Amino acid sequence: MSGVRGSVELVDVTKRFGSMVAVDRLNLEVHPGEFLSLLGPSGCGKTTTLRMLAGFDQPDEGYIKISGEFVQGVPPYKRDVNTVFQHYALFPHMSVSENVAYGMRQKRVPKSEIAGRVAEALDMVKMSKLADRRPKQMSGGQQQRVAVARALVNRPSVLLLDEPLGALDRKLREEMQIELKLLQSQLGITFVFVTHDQEEAMGMSDRIAIMLDGHVEQLADSESVYERPASAFVAGFIGRNNFWKGTSTGHGVQASDGTVFVSSSPEERVAQGQPALAAIRPECIHLSATDPGSTTNVIPGTIAGVSHYGDVLQYVVRTAERDVISLLPRQGALRLAPGDQVWCHWEASEVYQFSADQADLVMAEPALEHI
Ligand SMILES: Nc1ncnc2c1ncn2[C@@H]1O[C@H](COP(=O)(O)OP(=O)(O)O)[C@@H](O)[C@H]1O
Ligand SMILES: [Mg+2]
Repeated sequence: MSGVRGSVELVDVTKRFGSMVAVDRLNLEVHPGEFLSLLGPSGCGKTTTLRMLAGFDQPDEGYIKISGEFVQGVPPYKRDVNTVFQHYALFPHMSVSENVAYGMRQKRVPKSEIAGRVAEALDMVKMSKLADRRPKQMSGGQQQRVAVARALVNRPSVLLLDEPLGALDRKLREEMQIELKLLQSQLGITFVFVTHDQEEAMGMSDRIAIMLDGHVEQLADSESVYERPASAFVAGFIGRNNFWKGTSTGHGVQASDGTVFVSSSPEERVAQGQPALAAIRPECIHLSATDPGSTTNVIPGTIAGVSHYGDVLQYVVRTAERDVISLLPRQGALRLAPGDQVWCHWEASEVYQFSADQADLVMAEPALEHI
């Protein structure tokens, strides 16, 4: 039993609301003690997945195991999990300690034990000094700490967190990210953490499940989802990418404007002659003021915009097919101005090739909207 305590398994889980499929044959395995994030755009099924783990919703198909046990029909309070929501839902008329103690009182845990466990939970989230405060006498970040303490006091093996930092401003959110991550590694309990913020997921997680339309598109660590995106959607959602649509040449893509993207990747993802996407990250697009004289991996264009971001410069290059984004270190970069003629070029090792299935999804936004 100890080997699986804190594990979570979802197998072919589907959840419908009327004709709406919110979660679509989702498969996911979370290891004991792991910090796993569910990351994806709004409406992709993150909250619904979490609510099924918590027991607030039941799957229509498939099954869920928590700590090795099937949880079909097991009510929320009997599961080895606790949930922290974005809106902390503290009782306004109760003090911090009373809020944290509430669940144990309901379960008739002996009074002598309650006091000790409340003190321990408040200590974990560094809120011991504010034990007598009311929620409205505290900041958003402090209230969210209390919500975490209230969940931890039950000593669950798995903590479910649904965008717990979503309501906090940026600086506080970054502080809380560090603290929550530290707390998780100290306690060694499993965190299933929902967020739509890729940086938050990348910074905190052991692994990230990137979700789209109710299923997991890729499950891997931060480095892998960035370096080896499993689909065009992941390549566009994690970090940024420039995409071109064309036809596979086997180890590359010929775009409709004639540009040839040659990839040095040993993987041949799309059969020759099939519709394909080429993708290149903005930081891999180099700019040259003279024609590099190559027939592949180069596009001529004109500078349409320049933005300064501290130590990086962002150029928008207008080319025949579309706008291309290039991000270059300021140090040593050419100083280019709108109207200048340039050649975008890149290494074959930086060219990703994907099937064209998700072309509409990843190419919907014109590049200029990113500025
Ligand atoms: N109770 C509900 N009734 C009807 N549709 C719902 C309900 N809950 C969620 N949905 C729909 O299911 C989809 C997934 O929602 P949700 O899990 O909340 O996504 P996320 O948390 O990733 O934003 C959305 O299209 C949403 O509108
Ligand atoms: Mg949600």
